[in-house]
This record gives sequence, structure tokens and C-alpha cells, in this order.
Amino acid sequence: MVERSRKDILETLTEGLSKLEYRGYDSTGVAVDGDTDGTSLIIKNPGKVSQLKEKINNTLNFDEYNPEYINHVGIAHTRWATHGEPSVSNAHPQRSDINGEFVVVHNGIITNYRELKTLLLNKGFKFESDTDTECIAKLFKLFYDTNLENGIEIDFNALTKEVLSELDGAYGLLCRSSHYPGEVICTRKGSPLLIGVKSEKNLKVDFVDVEFVDDSSDDQITLNDTKLNNPHKQKADEEKVFFAPITNNNPNLRYSQSRAFLSEDGIPIPIEFFISSDASSVVKHTKKVLFLEDNDVAHIYDGELHIHRFKPREDGDKITRPIQTLELELAQIMKGDYNHFMQKEIFEQPESTLNTMRGRLDFQNKSVKLGGLTNWLPTIKRARRLLMIACGTSYHSCLAVRQMFEELSEIPVSIELASDFLDRKAPVFRDDVCIFVSQSGETADSMQALKFCLERGALTIGIVNTVGSSISRSTHCGVHINAGPEIGVASTKAYTSQYIALAMLALSLSDDSLSSLGKRQEIISNLQKIPEQIKQILQLEPQIKSICKKLQGEQSLLLLGRGYQYACALEGALKIKEISYMHSEGILAGELKHGVLALVDENLPIIALGTRDSLFPKVVSSIEQVIARKGKPIVICNKDDEYWLSKKADNPSIELIEVPGTSDCLQGLLNIIPLQLMSYWLAVNQGFDVDFPRNLAKSVTVE
Ligand code: G6P
Repeated sequence: MVERSRKDILETLTEGLSKLEYRGYDSTGVAVDGDTDGTSLIIKNPGKVSQLKEKINNTLNFDEYNPEYINHVGIAHTRWATHGEPSVSNAHPQRSDINGEFVVVHNGIITNYRELKTLLLNKGFKFESDTDTECIAKLFKLFYDTNLENGIEIDFNALTKEVLSELDGAYGLLCRSSHYPGEVICTRKGSPLLIGVKSEKNLKVDFVDVEFVDDSSDDQITLNDTKLNNPHKQKADEEKVFFAPITNNNPNLRYSQSRAFLSEDGIPIPIEFFISSDASSVVKHTKKVLFLEDNDVAHIYDGELHIHRFKPREDGDKITRPIQTLELELAQIMKGDYNHFMQKEIFEQPESTLNTMRGRLDFQNKSVKLGGLTNWLPTIKRARRLLMIACGTSYHSCLAVRQMFEELSEIPVSIELASDFLDRKAPVFRDDVCIFVSQSGETADSMQALKFCLERGALTIGIVNTVGSSISRSTHCGVHINAGPEIGVASTKAYTSQYIALAMLALSLSDDSLSSLGKRQEIISNLQKIPEQIKQILQLEPQIKSICKKLQGEQSLLLLGRGYQYACALEGALKIKEISYMHSEGILAGELKHGVLALVDENLPIIALGTRDSLFPKVVSSIEQVIARKGKPIVICNKDDEYWLSKKADNPSIELIEVPGTSDCLQGLLNIIPLQLMSYWLAVNQGFDVDFPRNLAKSVTVE
């Protein structure tokens, strides 16, 4: 039987954390069993996972004291500050008391934490941090002690339910406790959590479709499939149940591993459980995962996984949590030969865009088939309006395709930033179709907006990259963009794939429209060429690098675009802000004369999107206004465009970045590529950490 040393366990935890680094974080921490019974050893650090590893090695002497465990729970976390600055005391895990009787890692925000803190202070608890999470650990202890005073030895799951009944807000959380050695609790509401299941023999769990049945007596869902359930429960302890849960977490994440037995013909088979908010930290260990739903309380002990419900059963609640097989490959989340994930992802776009179209576009017959929408298409076509709701880059992809939707589907379209949409409590009707676009599928603002629309009876569609994510599971139907895991915080390949997925949706909505037949055919033919055209543009990297050298030291940058290119200007500006920290603004060229022109002089760098479409003369006139004020624009134009070539002949200080032409509505797919490269090189030239820009998180699971 495999035994794990504390060193192994800590390595597994920190390695799991490093797989989550891409999501952005400012501090890290782990908790494992302490040196004496009933204590927890917590090591925390503001900064990188590598610094945490150093601190662990400096704190512990593994030669002298390195106990072996057959049953152990370790938890870990990366934090992205919401309440309280990044510091050792504010990092997770948070503890109930000095011995760490209850130790918690938490993603999300507890909105009533001030009230809870006052209550706990009045009861004599002493706080060590400014976090909302600390209240959770202390509530565990308060309820545990109260039960004990009343002579009740409460079970960990029942205790958790008592704690949860006090919490408002969002959470994905894990708790370990010296009162429940070898047990772990994880629960979620509005924040993702999944459990990886690994069997050494790769036997049963390979095909186990775990079914849970609802036990109405206590609203508990228990396993009705003994494949994961240990029939030798009473003997489990003696039989060396190895249970070494380990957790890591990023702003949003816990990752826990436990090892236990399942039994086949009386022969125990070890199982490990890995709990995480992100599959990327689990995939190295197992591809078999189950996703927890909101209000699930998963309790792992004695080699058994029990999923209970915190809320009474409601109609429509699913009573199973099937184990799914992840398609994620470890190689997909490795950098390969590239210096940064962002660079790798920019260069992956010829393939990722192709993967988005694969099996969906029939280039010969000029038709589209989106399997995830087939049954819903007639309803979607009858929509009174389409609302596209998203945040950040995903919002820009919606803007980029709005005109295409309006032209092809003739359904009114409104584009919403999820946070603003919620702030306004915008009216939504049953005959609206709401499209949620999200790379991660976990963005809290988008998820809240989705709930809002579901409550109002609208039909919802998810355009999501991450399979199994909250948005993809909560929408009625959808399209996975199939871009592959995106690790760089600045989104690149997800943008182009979202654009294409949305374009395919617009094509599907108009597949019976005769008037748009010609345009549809043109778009489909041009979509086929996009991957190859992106490849050509990527070859412009040396030119872009040299432009970036010239731009070094500039404080500010404007990007001009109009019509289809406005979204591209916004997205280009966002990329530059995110990773090079240069102030950059996307400007609607038509608005230039209404204010922004005041900024223009011979010094302010301006990038203009001057590719050909029906608005070309207007764009030219805006750029002329810049040139007239001695501005020296960098123009993204079509290859061999005579107008721009002659302009440059007259005025050599104008820089041209030449890209291939395509349909007006697809040109943004190509124009964004040089801007992605530019943002990358602007940041690299300044020595910035491109994949982990300061203050930003890949997946923002707090509102
Ligand atoms: C964060 C990320 C952005 C991303 C946005 C929306 O702000 O840093 O890169 O565009 O969230 O994320 P989503 O996963 O919903 O597309």
C-alpha cells in the first residue's frame, strides 16, 4: 500500500497550486497535519508559489521529521485579494484558533461577514486577518463547541450545514479539521469545484458513472453505487486507508487529494480524490472528474465520497453527479518551446480557429451545423431580441459580431457588460434569447447575469471554452468554442474562437434566409481561409517587434476603428493595458472630432484600423485628421492597398502593417492578431511578467 510522506503531500499540493498560477493570484498557502496530534501546520506567503515552496523547505526539516501517512488531508490555496491586502495573515488557509482546529480555504465573497465578525468577536474569538474567510473557520469552531457543550458529537457534514446556514454570498470552500482526522468537506455556491477520482488500478473508476440517490429523510444524496463506496467501511481504518487530501486554490480554487479504498471482490483498491476549482491542477493525476453543483456538500472519509445537499430538494434538481472524462491533456497546459503561455496561445490560433470550425462548417455545401443548438434553433429564431452578455475580452467578441447578427438574422441585438446589466436590473422577457460568452465559464458577473435571465424565463445559450464550467452547465444550450485551455491571463485565442463561434451562430440563425444567401456563402468561404491567413500574419512578428521597440517609453496609445473595427480597437487597447500597463484607449473613429482629437499631436502614438470595408472613406478621413496634426499613425491595412502605399510614399513616417483581406465582418479576426503581438512585445520589452499581469486574474469569480 502506498504511503505518503508529508514531503510528498506538500509537493503535490504546491505542484497543484503552480498549475493554477495562470489564473492570477497574490498569495499562497498550505495546511497539513502539524507535528503534534490535533494541530495543523499552516504555511503561507504573499507572492509566488515558488516562494511558498522555498518557505516550506526553510520551515520544515524533512530529514528529521517527515511522518508517513496512510490517511491525510492537505489543503492549499492561491488567493486574489478581495477583503484585506495581500499579506501572510490574509492569505489562506484561515484557521479557527491557534491550533488550527478548523482550517478553511475559500473562493468567493461572504457578503455578511461584517455581521458574522461582530457576532464572533462578541463570543470572544480573536481575529488574525481582514478576510471574510476567517469567519467561516471560526463559525465551524463555534458550532462544534456549542454542540459538544450540549453533549452532541456532531458529524462533519451536519456541522458544515450549520455553518452554511449562516453564510450569505458566494463560496467554493474546503475545510479540514483536527476533530475529523482524514476527513475533508468541500462545498460550493456560485464558485466552481470539481472532484477528481483516481484509482491506482484504473479499474472501476474508469467506467463508474456514479449515481447518487436522494434520501428525502435528510435531503442527503448518497452513493447508490458501491463501486466508489467502500463496503468495508468499519475495517477501513485498520486497512490503512490512505487519505491524503491536498488542496490548492487560486482566487478560486481548492485542490484536494485523498486516498482511500474501494473494494473489488474484497480486495481493496486505493482511490485518491483531488478537489479543485480548476481541472488543470487535477489532470496530471486523473481525468475522471465529477462537478459539484451549488449547495452540494461533499464529504470524503473512510474512502467514501458522499455528496449531501444543503438545500431541500427542488423540482429539477439532478440526483446524479456523473463522473466525466476530461479531454484536457497535460501538454495543452504546458508552454512547450514558447517563452510565455500568451505567446504560445497567439501562435496557436491557426489551429484553435480551425478547431472551432471543425465538424461544424461544411465548406463544400456552404452550411453550418451546431450540434449543441440543433433542437433549440427554431425557438432561437423566433426570439424577440438577442442579448449578448459578457465581460472583458468576451464582451469585445460580442461587439465584434453585432453587426453580422443584425445583418444576417434581422433580430435586434443588444450587447451587455454583465456587471452593468446586473446593476441596471435590465428588463428581460421570456421571448428573449440571452447569449453568454465566456472563456472560463466561471466569471461571477456573467454567472449572476445568467441566473438573472434564467429566473425571468429567457432562453439562454452559452458560448464557452471550458467544458463542464458553470456557464456551460447552467445554460439551456450552447456551443463550446474548442480553443483548448487558455492559460495566459490576457485572452487571445479564446477571442478569435469566440468570434468564429458567434459568426457560426449568426449563420445558423439565417440558414433559411434567401436574402442573405450570397453573404452567407461568402462568409463561409472566407472562414475557411482564416486559419491560413492568421498564419501569414504571424509572420509579421519581426516587423511588429521593431515597431514595439520604437514605441518603448511611450506613456499612452490610441487605437482608432469604426464599424466592424471598433471592437478590434477596444480589444487591442485592452490587451496593451493588461500586460504592458501602458495607457491605451480604443476610440470609435467617428467620435474623434468630438473630443479625442484634442489629445493628438506629433508625439501621441496612434494605431488606426484602416482595412477596406464600406466605411473605408470615413476611416481615411479620420486618419487624415491625425496626419494633419502631425500625427504619425501606424495603420493596419490590407496587403498591397494602393491608397496606403501611396500615402506612405508621401509620408514615410507612417507605418503600415499589411494583413490579408476577407469579408468585412471577419476582418476583425485578422486585424486583432498584430495587436495581440504588439501588446505581447510591448510587455516583454519592458520585462513584465506577461502571463501574470499585476492585479489581474484569469478567471474573476467574485462580483
Ligand atoms: C477577466 C480576464 C479577462 C477576461 C474576463 C472575462 O477579467 O482577465 O481576460 O476577458 O475576465 O472572462 P471570461 O472567462 O468570462 O471570458
